Amino acid sequence: MKFDDRFIHDLQDKADIEQVISSHITLKRRGKTLVGLCPFHNEKTPSFTVYPDTRSFYCFGCGAGGDVISFVRRIENLDYTEAVKAVAQIAGVPMPEDGYDDTLSKKRMRLLAANREAARFFNACLMQEKNRHALKYFLDRGLSANTIRRFGLGYAPNEWRALIEHLHSKGFTDEELVLANLARRSDKDGRVSYYDNFRNRVMFPIIDLRGNVIAFGGRVMDDSKPKYINTSDTLVYKKSNGVFALNFAKNANDNKLILVEGYMDVIALHQAGFTNAVACLGTAFTHEQANLLSRYADEILICYDNDEAGKKATQKALGVLGNTGVKLRVVKMEGGKDADEIIRKHGKERFDSLLGNAANRTEYKLLEERSRYNISTDDGKLRFLMAATQILAECGSIECDIYATRLSNELGVSAESINAQIKSAKAKLRRNEEARRVKEQTEALAKSFEDKNNPERSNNLRAAKAEETIIASFMRNPDFYKKLKDKLTPDDFVTSFNRRVYECLVSKLEAGVDAELSQFAKSFSPEEMDSVTRIFISSHSLVNTLKECEDCIKVLKDKTGPRITDASAMSDEEFLKLFKKDD
Ligand code: UTP
Ligand code: MN
Repeated sequence: MKFDDRFIHDLQDKADIEQVISSHITLKRRGKTLVGLCPFHNEKTPSFTVYPDTRSFYCFGCGAGGDVISFVRRIENLDYTEAVKAVAQIAGVPMPEDGYDDTLSKKRMRLLAANREAARFFNACLMQEKNRHALKYFLDRGLSANTIRRFGLGYAPNEWRALIEHLHSKGFTDEELVLANLARRSDKDGRVSYYDNFRNRVMFPIIDLRGNVIAFGGRVMDDSKPKYINTSDTLVYKKSNGVFALNFAKNANDNKLILVEGYMDVIALHQAGFTNAVACLGTAFTHEQANLLSRYADEILICYDNDEAGKKATQKALGVLGNTGVKLRVVKMEGGKDADEIIRKHGKERFDSLLGNAANRTEYKLLEERSRYNISTDDGKLRFLMAATQILAECGSIECDIYATRLSNELGVSAESINAQIKSAKAKLRRNEEARRVKEQTEALAKSFEDKNNPERSNNLRAAKAEETIIASFMRNPDFYKKLKDKLTPDDFVTSFNRRVYECLVSKLEAGVDAELSQFAKSFSPEEMDSVTRIFISSHSLVNTLKECEDCIKVLKDKTGPRITDASAMSDEEFLKLFKKDD
């Protein structure tokens, strides 16, 4: 990562951090800053903050922070050089001709090339006469030649080294194939050998939004186990981000996405004309996947399998997707266990009408609850009503009104009493929400004592706080540095991490460079940049007076002052008092 400081500075200037971040998450303006739900951890109260003034971001919930480059690096899962390239592209800034280290980028390019060649090889094998059983498998499942071509489906031969040998002939090394998870290494009695990861399986390539083959899923053609083998995480693939067929679905020029469980469901739907179908790969539906989907859809139709696992997965998806603000509907899968089977048995018209009857989130939850009770008994009716009012408590007043009337008619209970019940459930919900908010804030405060990059911090809080105030003040006001620099040396710093930050800052200020976050990225790892950012953004809330800095220097010079050994045992007031001046 050897970019010229000047170049990075210009890039930061031209790339609008607010615009870049808001293309990924919804931001609300709050004074000089913008806040939103953090894309890097799950939360309900927004603690992700963007500071356009200083072109930085910081999440008070999980501690992730940095500049526009580190944001892109993290959210797109890129290395530093690639993130710089991506930001340069957004900002329309040409990249410098040379002079940066792109080893990792080159490695990724090689893996992508290997994957592409592997996909070609698998597809060619599928078409060979001797492998007709594999082609027959797909044809028997109703796929057309066109569909097979479009999805680039293939077959991995029943041999130990077929792919390895093919890719050797194309110039790829064993090491590259292992990195791509196309081959595995075996080390028996000191004898190293390599063998194909996918053998005797029909192959589904996973293609990203730029058209790269990033991974594969391989299915057995009988009932043996494991049913699928999938590429594990590699330099070019992160399973928890994987969405199958989004490369096609994003062009479906319909702002809806159909979310199904399996590869075969997606393919069957596309073949039937539902080209907006996607599947989320990996076992758990993640908020990264939810964020990605929400960028391409206003509405998501969830079509999970009609079994217990499918219902559980639906609840999970509703929860995770609920944070993104997209409209959600749940399709009742009738006439078959999954989308593939329904289309095969009953045709696309039937599936279309299922889509048309999809329940919204509230309806779905009410239906789910209803099926759990026997509402022909008074007891069952009562229990269902209690559960239903809980659900409605989360809805707006119009929705409440509609469903309360419906429930009243269906169950023969007065609308007044249902409404009264909803009202009390709403009050309870509000109390719980308030309690949760307080809990999240308390946890954030507790976290602010600790710093994974600065383990000495929690045992030397007072000094560490003083150090951070000094660093933040100097970052914002280089003048302060000039006035105070003779009163302080790096040796005065108590915590070694902050000392490093200070030394780096001093080297910038001495060189007459603006102390921007990006200037630190060369000396600190991406994880360490979280902590540098925390210090940096703390300057926003400081009333940076010269006097304050002098006081902080005194704290550092005074080795006899109180040493705080366990900040977590202090009350909030005690904690805050620590940092009051003249205490
Ligand atoms: P399903 O078992 O529903 O698979 O798992 P499917 O694709 O519909 O398979 P068919 O219809 O029996 O051919 C749904 C998805 O879960 C993942 C795959 O992505 C699959 O498409 N999965 C399932 C695995 O990764 N590994 C497994 O062993 C099973
Ligand atoms: Mn299936």
